[in-house]
Amino acid sequence: MSDDVQRNEQPDAAHPTGGVPVATMTDPHMQPYARHPARAEAVTGLLLLVGVLGFAAYGAVYFVNGSTQWQAVSLGIGFIAFGIGLTAWGKYLLPQGPFVEERHPLAASQAERDALGAAIVDRGRLVFRRRGFLGGLLGLGGAVMGVVLAFPAIRSLGPLPKKTFDHTHWRRGVRLVDIDGNPVHYTDLETGGVLTVFPEGHVGDAMDQTLLIRPGGPLPGQTQAAPIVTAPGRETWGPQGYLAFSKVCTHAGCPVGLYQKATSQLLCPCHQSLFDVGAGKPAVPVFGPAPRPLPQLPLMVDADGFLAAQSDYHEPVGPGFWERS
Ligand code: FES
Repeated sequence: MSDDVQRNEQPDAAHPTGGVPVATMTDPHMQPYARHPARAEAVTGLLLLVGVLGFAAYGAVYFVNGSTQWQAVSLGIGFIAFGIGLTAWGKYLLPQGPFVEERHPLAASQAERDALGAAIVDRGRLVFRRRGFLGGLLGLGGAVMGVVLAFPAIRSLGPLPKKTFDHTHWRRGVRLVDIDGNPVHYTDLETGGVLTVFPEGHVGDAMDQTLLIRPGGPLPGQTQAAPIVTAPGRETWGPQGYLAFSKVCTHAGCPVGLYQKATSQLLCPCHQSLFDVGAGKPAVPVFGPAPRPLPQLPLMVDADGFLAAQSDYHEPVGPGFWERS
C-alpha cells in the first residue's frame, strides 16, 4: 500500500470512513494518465467547447426554421465533439487503473460462532418460555391442518373403480332399448339405419352406450336378413343384418355418433377416427388416432323378435387402460 494512503482507525469529521484507507490526491494512483495533463486538458476543453457550439448552432437553426440538413449537421458536430471530449477526459485526465485493494478477512472466530449459536438457542427457549401456549396452539393447528388438507385428496378421488372399467351392464338376454327405454324389434331399422341403444334398465349409462346399425337389411319382398359376420368366431353376432359396437371411442372416449352408409364406416367427430364396419370388417380404425377397433357387442333375436345381447363385450370399452397381450 502506498505511503500516500492514510489509514483512519476511528471515524471523525475528516475521515468518515473510519478504518478504511483513503487515498490522497498526491497518491500516484490518483495521477492522470496523460504525460502532459495541461495539454490534454486544453484539447478536451476545446472539444467540449466545439460540442457546445454545435448544440447551440442546432438550437439556432431550429429556431429560425432552418433546413433539416443544417440541423442534422450542427447536431452531429455537437454530439461528435462532445463525445470525443468526454472520452478524452476519461482516458487522459482521470486516474488509471486497475487498482487492487485487499479485502479485510470476513470469517468469524470460533468464539464468535459459539456465541451466535448459544444466542439462537437462548432466544428460541425464551420465545417458547414466554409463548408456550401460543406455541402449542401453533403445533396443534399445523397437525389439524395437515389432516384436513388430506381430506380432499382422499374424498375427491371418489370410490375406487374396482372392476367397473372392465365390464358394462350388458348380459346375456338383456334387451337393447332406445333412449326412451323402448325395446328394439328386429324390424325397426331400415337398411342403413342407425340407433343408439342401452341395456334395458340402464338408459343413459355412458359406458354402456352402444351404436346399433343395420348395414344389411332384408332383400326386397323379404322380412328376414342374412347375418353379418365381421370376423371369424363372430358368426352369430350379427343377426338379421344388425351389428352393434361400443359407442365409446377407443381414442379418447368421445361418442362415435356417425354412420356413413355409403362407405359403411363409423366416424368419431372428435378427431375424425374412421372405423370400417360390415362383413369382414370388425370396426378396425382406418383413419385417425384411434388405436384399436371398437368392441363389438354380440347380438341375438329373442323369442319375441326383440334384439338382445348374447353377453357382455368381450373386452373393456373405451380408451385402452389395461394390459393387453
Ligand atoms: S375420441 Fe374419437 S377420435 Fe379422438
